[in-house]
Amino acid sequence: MGFKEGFLWGGATSASQCEGSFDLDGKGLSVSDVVSSGSHHSPRRICLDRDPAYAFPSEWGSDCYRRFEEDIELFTEMGFKAYRFSIDWSRIFPHGDDAEPNEAGLDHYERLLSALREHDIEPVVTLSHSEMPLNLVKKYGGWRNKRVIEFYVRYCSAVFFRYRGLVKYWLPFNEVNDMLLPMSAFGQGGIYHDGTESFTEQPDYPNERMNALNNILIASARAVKIGRDINRDFSFGTMICHITQYPRTCCPEDQLLVQMDDLYRNCMCSDVMLRGEYPYYAWTYFRRHGIELELTDKERADLKAGTCDFYTFSYYQSICQTTRAEEFGDQTGGNIMGGVRNPYLELTDWDWPIDPVGLRYTLNKVYDRYRVPVMITENGLGAVDVFEADGSIHDQYRIDYLRRHIEEMRKAVDDGVDLIGYTPWGCIDLVSMSTGEMKKRYGFIYVDADDEGNGTFDRFRKDSFYWYKRVIATNGEDLS
Ligand code: BG6
Repeated sequence: MGFKEGFLWGGATSASQCEGSFDLDGKGLSVSDVVSSGSHHSPRRICLDRDPAYAFPSEWGSDCYRRFEEDIELFTEMGFKAYRFSIDWSRIFPHGDDAEPNEAGLDHYERLLSALREHDIEPVVTLSHSEMPLNLVKKYGGWRNKRVIEFYVRYCSAVFFRYRGLVKYWLPFNEVNDMLLPMSAFGQGGIYHDGTESFTEQPDYPNERMNALNNILIASARAVKIGRDINRDFSFGTMICHITQYPRTCCPEDQLLVQMDDLYRNCMCSDVMLRGEYPYYAWTYFRRHGIELELTDKERADLKAGTCDFYTFSYYQSICQTTRAEEFGDQTGGNIMGGVRNPYLELTDWDWPIDPVGLRYTLNKVYDRYRVPVMITENGLGAVDVFEADGSIHDQYRIDYLRRHIEEMRKAVDDGVDLIGYTPWGCIDLVSMSTGEMKKRYGFIYVDADDEGNGTFDRFRKDSFYWYKRVIATNGEDLS
């Protein structure tokens, strides 16, 4: 069996990483606007006062805010059936607690969505991808404060209503389970403690972080419920950062370690979002870690009433875990988290393990667990590209990476998984989330800009652009 008819081939971006124009058309500052550039070896900094000694890459991104029409032309040329992007909350409600939405922000995304519709590209819209208005952090303490639920729902209601005839697929939160790791406290949770500087090493208070996540899950459910009241055809998806895990050895303790950690990291949030309640192992985890969840009966009912329709996830890699750290000390990096090195896998230049077979394994796992349609909303290879004098970019390594993953997707479809779409990450080059670099590129489309924001920002087709165009034209049959 091959990919189904109408399979949603496309690409994915997020506003703060690609739009630039961070102060245009009434946009307020967001959490991403105060995170500086960094690199593989020097972490990004959180500077609430935007210390001019640092550079802030969300200022320029890939200039997609101003060039979206040109970009959609290129997506159309590749044959995109879908485009996943995020609406920047701080463009719609610049302070987060404004009484009325910002018309210029609403108008921008209306033009973007209309252009996608004109080109028969299905929008897949993320409502929150690290774009919380900074004012909500400063004034309310971010997602720790239950009032933020109300502001998020106000924002969602405004965009649901305005785009009710333009969008079907909504993702309430990007990689919602990233909140299980301290590194996401600021970017995702809007949690800031005086003196915090490093984006990767933030002071951590698990009880407040877990309660912030709980508020996010409640907000998601309430938004889903309201969205359905506005348009019954809306379809809502999870977005889970799936860090697939293997035991490093076959000793039973390693098996158990992975079983428990996989449930907590990879399954808990989607269990809540698709089944409408916290699973038993979540309560056990909270009890064992001294976490006291503030969850009222009304909020429990909200979680039940606002479950999602489909499952989406990002997949970049797998990791290994072991109880025998003294024997297997070698570590790898990774998206959000690394793990013990798997001797069977190669690493990217940023030390992320490459594991196409793990994608098939993961697709079977999540489909077996939830039995709802599945979409892969992020996947891809961050690599340095060489821009040749004639404007070509020969990114065979990216083609190889994607080909091997699509082959495994096809096998998963043959296994019986109901896979409905694939939107590889950074379809147009954009700023890296973890390092703030531009040189860590994912795109089919090259953007002429460097890590400091210098360049023409002109667009160029990479070799992978022509390759992916062929993949889409043949519905995944021709991967050569
Ligand atoms: C995902 C995020 O975790 O990974 C994206 O949703 C991010 O925002 C992507 O860009 C790739 O990670 P990075 O750090 O290479 O940009």
